[in-house]
Amino acid sequence: MARIVGAITTSHIPAIGKAIARNLHEDPYWKPFFDGYPPVHRWLAQVQPDVAVVFYNDHGLNFFLDRMPTFAIGAAPEYRNADEGWGIPTVPPLPGDQPLSWHLIERLVGEEFDLTTCQEMLVDHALTIPMALLWPGSGAWPVRTVPICINTVQHPLPSAMRCYKLGQAVGRAIEAYPEDLRVVVIGTGGLSHQLDGERAGFINKAFDVEFMQRLAGDPLWAARYSIAELVELTGTQGIELLMWLAARGALGGEAATVHSNYHIPISNTAAGLMLMERRAA
Ligand code: DHB
Ligand code: FE
Repeated sequence: MARIVGAITTSHIPAIGKAIARNLHEDPYWKPFFDGYPPVHRWLAQVQPDVAVVFYNDHGLNFFLDRMPTFAIGAAPEYRNADEGWGIPTVPPLPGDQPLSWHLIERLVGEEFDLTTCQEMLVDHALTIPMALLWPGSGAWPVRTVPICINTVQHPLPSAMRCYKLGQAVGRAIEAYPEDLRVVVIGTGGLSHQLDGERAGFINKAFDVEFMQRLAGDPLWAARYSIAELVELTGTQGIELLMWLAARGALGGEAATVHSNYHIPISNTAAGLMLMERRAA
């Protein structure tokens, strides 16, 4: 049977792509950010996942305001990246896992989560930056990918509790897959940031720190907030923490934080990273 080996949550700021391309890992601005990742690289080398199921939010590359699914899932043979205008190099296509995608779709629809199924899907920086951070220098990706997209662009957004429950359902569906696969669940985005409007540049360190401290052991603390409250607390784009709640949901039951990093600012954003595993708290 398939087994979830752990969950990784990370910011997905486009400027990271430029820093990777320019090899700025030791640059004083970037070092405290990039230094968070080697423990996760060592963990990935140890657990050797076959597949990454990635909760991310598209920013207008694959879905635009005229057609905006609340939840969408890839069922494509591969996922191509395209230029979004940020000036970051595109990454090679990410191989998909169509049998796993369709298994997840069957199970999720069976649990009343009716996701839009995408047999073609362009993926933006929210998927490619985390993959490039987690598997650096990958000319050939060592995992297959199943992307799950949550709308954070056009209101109304799904509630935090709904995203957490989606994650739980995805976790159950993965564990019901008969193949012997090791699956890492990834959630990308956040933490607090606001790119537009009167509060542009807004960051809430106190909230981010509490969110990260509680996510593994007490995910319902954050899941109980309304979308309006979370936007107030974390900024219009800080709401991307919905991906973190979905990834935590997929772990199910008890979980513990194995590694974390938090650094302000990277571009306009409070950059966060967590690695969580299942276990008694
Ligand atoms: C930034 C952060 C994001 O999450 C994003 O999608 C785009 C830009 C930033 O801080 O620059
Ligand atoms: Fe974003």
